[in-house]
Amino acid sequence: MPDSMDTRSAAARINTSIPHPARIYDYLLGGKDNYAADREAAEQLVKVSPGTREGVRAHRAFLRRAVRHLATEAGITQFLDIGTGIPTQGNTHEVAQEANPDARVAYVDNDPIVLVHGRALLTGSATGRTTVIEADLRQPEAILGHPEVKAVIDFTQPVAVILAGVLHFVPDDEGPHATVERFKAAVPSGSHLLLSHITLDFAPQVQQEEMSKPYDKSTAPMVPRTHADVLRFFDGWQLVEPGLVEVVLWRPDEPREYIPGGHAWAYGGVAVKP
Ligand SMILES: C[S@@+](CC[C@H](N)C(=O)[O-])C[C@H]1O[C@@H](n2cnc3c(N)ncnc32)[C@H](O)[C@@H]1O
Repeated sequence: MPDSMDTRSAAARINTSIPHPARIYDYLLGGKDNYAADREAAEQLVKVSPGTREGVRAHRAFLRRAVRHLATEAGITQFLDIGTGIPTQGNTHEVAQEANPDARVAYVDNDPIVLVHGRALLTGSATGRTTVIEADLRQPEAILGHPEVKAVIDFTQPVAVILAGVLHFVPDDEGPHATVERFKAAVPSGSHLLLSHITLDFAPQVQQEEMSKPYDKSTAPMVPRTHADVLRFFDGWQLVEPGLVEVVLWRPDEPREYIPGGHAWAYGGVAVKP
C-alpha cells in the first residue's frame, strides 16, 4: 500500500495543464477526475470518432468480461494490471474478488493521479489483497522486482498479465513488443495475457495523424495498430475463443449499446501460456 508520503509527492506531481491519457479516459467514461486540458483533448477525439464515448464504454465492458472469465473459468487468482487507469466502476479487483474473494491484484500506472486515487482501489475483500504502484511499463524490471508487486504476486504460480488500453501509448521505437515479451517470460505456464488496443482498422478513412492529434500535447503519444501488429503481442501463447476481435465481439453477455459509426475502435483478446 502506498504510504502517505508517496501519495503526497504524487499529488504534487500532477500537472493539470497537460492532457493525461488516464484523465482523458476518465472524462470519456463520465468520471470527475479530469481537467480542462483533458476534456479538450477528449472532445477533439469525439470529433474524429463520434462513437468514442460508446467505444470506450464497450472497451471497459470487455475488460470486465475478460477479468470475470479469468477469475472463474480460467481459475486465475492473481492479476498484474498494468495501465490501470483512474478507478471507476468494475475495476479489476472488484470483478476478480467478486468471483473469488481471495484474488490478489497489483495495479501499475505511470500517472501519479492513479496512485493518489489508489486508496479507493485498495479496499479489497477481507481475504484478497490489492496494491497500486506508480511505475512505467517500459521498465518491466522495475515492475517485476518491485517489493509491493512481489508481496502480492507469486511469480511461481499462474498470473494474469493485463495490458488493457495501454500499449497504444508506447510507440514502436520504444519496443512495445519486446516489453510485452519480458512480462510474458516472467510468468509460468498457465498464465494469461489480457490485452486490448486501439485500432483504425474499422475506420480506414481516418488518418493516423487525426487520431493522434488530440494526444499531441499529452504526456504520451497515441499509436493505433493493425490486427496483425496487435496479434504479435500474443506470439507463442494460445488465444482463447473467440481470438483477437473487436472488443464488442469478445464473449458478449448483454445487448450491445449502439455505437455511432458502428464500431468500437479497439481489439481485445485473452491468451494462455502453454
Ligand atoms: C486508457 S487508460 C486504460 C485503463 C484501464 N486499463 C482500462 O482498460 O479500462 C490507459 C492507462 O494507461 C496508463 N499508461 C499510459 N502509458 C503508460 C506507461 N508507459 N506505463 C504505465 N501506465 C501507462 C495511463 O496513465 C492510463 O491510466
